[in-house]
Amino acid sequence: MMYWQEEIETLPTPKLHELQLKRLLKSVQRAAMSPYYKKVFAENNLSVDSIKSLEDLRKFPMTTKEDMRNNYPYGLLTCSTDDIVRMHCTSGTTGNPVAVLYNRHDLDSWVNLVARSMFSVGTRNTDIFQNSSGYGLFTGGLGFQYGAEKVGCMTIPAGAGNSRRQIKLMRDFGTTTMHAVPSYLGRLRAVFDDLGLTPQKDTKLKRLFIGAEPHSEETRKRIEEMYGCPAYNSFGMTEMNGPGVAFECKEEKGMHMWEDCYLMEIVNPQTLEPVPDGEMGELVLTTLDREALPLIRYRTRDLTRIIPGPCACGRTSRRIDRFQGRSDDMFIMKGCNVFPIQIERVLMRLPELGSDYLITLGRDNGADYMLIQAELKTDAFTDNYTKLNALCKRIAADIRDEIQVTPKVELVDKGSLPKSDGKAVRVKEMRHL
Ligand code: COA
Ligand code: AMP
Ligand code: ZN
Repeated sequence: MMYWQEEIETLPTPKLHELQLKRLLKSVQRAAMSPYYKKVFAENNLSVDSIKSLEDLRKFPMTTKEDMRNNYPYGLLTCSTDDIVRMHCTSGTTGNPVAVLYNRHDLDSWVNLVARSMFSVGTRNTDIFQNSSGYGLFTGGLGFQYGAEKVGCMTIPAGAGNSRRQIKLMRDFGTTTMHAVPSYLGRLRAVFDDLGLTPQKDTKLKRLFIGAEPHSEETRKRIEEMYGCPAYNSFGMTEMNGPGVAFECKEEKGMHMWEDCYLMEIVNPQTLEPVPDGEMGELVLTTLDREALPLIRYRTRDLTRIIPGPCACGRTSRRIDRFQGRSDDMFIMKGCNVFPIQIERVLMRLPELGSDYLITLGRDNGADYMLIQAELKTDAFTDNYTKLNALCKRIAADIRDEIQVTPKVELVDKGSLPKSDGKAVRVKEMRHL
């Protein structure tokens, strides 16, 4: 038995399209019950009757992260909060985060997709699954947790951090399957080395799920060598429930988009017109099996392409390639999404600081770090190091509250940060070095 839901996973394409159309009609009808979509549909003279085929979806405007933020917390909700059983949201206190609300059906549907993904690469109830995602508001925590329980694994909800304990748990309980962000696996391997251990000899690891962060094929290969087992790419995002949106099968040749639950478009990020199959563009997704908070044509901002042709595993859902970047300026640090504007807003609240700053993303002995250099105003400069130190600490704490990552902070003289063509450089990416 290699499929979790054989019939759905191998549905012939015409039948898949039939199912998608049926579900799309339901999603649009349901979306119209939310204050936000009700208004958008009315303004554009659109309703469920506008859809006769899957292509008709293109008549609908796209939904953006800003739309979700502007209508936070309940503007996209299609039902009473009495029916809601969970919420997840992205980080941020200076602006509104992006919040997703789930009813019972939505949670069941999500858990099923995570279970389907995990099962597709051989995870079974005989496996012991350890999750190093942050629990709480990060969807990678509870999302993988309930998916693994659904498969019947013994689960170890280790959560993020404390690498020595992660390794102890792995060894004491015989962890066979682990979920981690790729950058953390570099750090964890350094801790294995410090302890004089190797994952190959000293653990029972059989497979890794890696995702939530862009990484290259070379990084995957390196992780597979470091741990001596396959590392499968997993794509998810909070707006689309969390993990379990697209997942690699054993072939390791791209991630199957679960097209019975997500309608996928790849568009040119400038013109928003569809690109031909196989060409790079921005991924736009419509939820097909979500009741409380359906999203119509959501711009993920992730750049990818559809991998043409069928997959040897027999699944008929199309595959997407690993992400090549984003069409906005978001970056991911230690598994946390960061928009430079979030950091800027924290810095600009402080009267001692000028308007220039530089965020450097680096890697040191396997661990990623973020260095923020901020220019002081001329009149704020002082040789009172206690005062400067206190300011650095305050900035680090405020930024940690905002993005969940603790930065190193350096205050520098006005005019000392590099400019390119007179324009301030805001983010310097050094993690590939
Ligand atoms: N996942 C799990 N643990 C991580 C991690 C990651 N992405 N990045 C770093 N860590 C570990 C560190 O190695 C450190 O443990 P160790 O010293 O025992 O090795 C510990 O977490 C604290 O890290 P540190 O860098 O000192 O602190 P921070 O304040 O900058 O970061 C984290 C705090 C790591 C807890 C926070 O960034 C986080 O929760 N990241 C995980 C996000 C996540 O789960 N994303 C998936 C979403 S699907
Ligand atoms: P979040 O909502 O915090 O889960 O973050 C979602 C974002 O993380 C996506 O929009 C992607 O930019 C990124 N992401 C998730 N999975 C992957 C992956 N497998 N590869 C690259 N980036 C990913
Ligand atoms: Zn496949």
